[in-house]
Amino acid sequence: MIKLAILISGSGTNLQSIIDNINSGYIKNGEIAVVISNNPDAYGLIRAKKHNIPVAVINHKDFSSRESFDEKLINEIEKFNADYVILAGFMRVLTKKFILHFHQKILNIHPALLPSFPGTNGQKQAFDYGVKFSGCTVHFVDEGTDTGPIIVQAVVPVLQNDTVESLKKRILSQEHKIFPYAIKLLLEDKLKITGRKVEIINEPTENLKDLFLINPFTIHSK
Ligand code: GRF
Repeated sequence: MIKLAILISGSGTNLQSIIDNINSGYIKNGEIAVVISNNPDAYGLIRAKKHNIPVAVINHKDFSSRESFDEKLINEIEKFNADYVILAGFMRVLTKKFILHFHQKILNIHPALLPSFPGTNGQKQAFDYGVKFSGCTVHFVDEGTDTGPIIVQAVVPVLQNDTVESLKKRILSQEHKIFPYAIKLLLEDKLKITGRKVEIINEPTENLKDLFLINPFTIHSK
């Protein structure tokens, strides 16, 4: 079994979708070795405990530097012999040392279509900008902020009567689909990274070649 360390900070709905997809057998050869939160009150910790998954709290407020916090994180992840680190709503910037330690073994979900709107509040950034489509991105983590090679993206429309909250909800429901999908591909060894590009081995793409989306939708002449 391939072991995952899942890092969270909050409600843990992405964590829940990973748990559910492991339990259903969609993600076949992986298990969650530990869920680590920097926030002692994260609801995701309760979700993990309900499924008898080991949890650890490493509160960043107990550390005087990012380096010492990350060192503790590395030790905890190693203690559980995790093969991959999954950032599922983990709201801390990681140091270069941490990222190099788990080189090409860290996945993150971001609630916007990268490279647009990186950093915090991706949904609000997109909403305020006035884009007609946004979405979410699963990517490998490199040393930049949300700059690593992209594995999967999902696109959602931004509607005229949307609020930031309704857009967040629409994006989140796609996060719950593409994160388990990316993890499934990773664990089946189907991801090949070449520079910035991630190739998905044996994935049929032919059916997508004529796909397009227009928002706002009206009747368009030929
Ligand atoms: C998600 O929108 C994720 O993309 C972002 O933080 C949120 C976490 O949600 N980075 P949850 O804790 O998984 O419910």
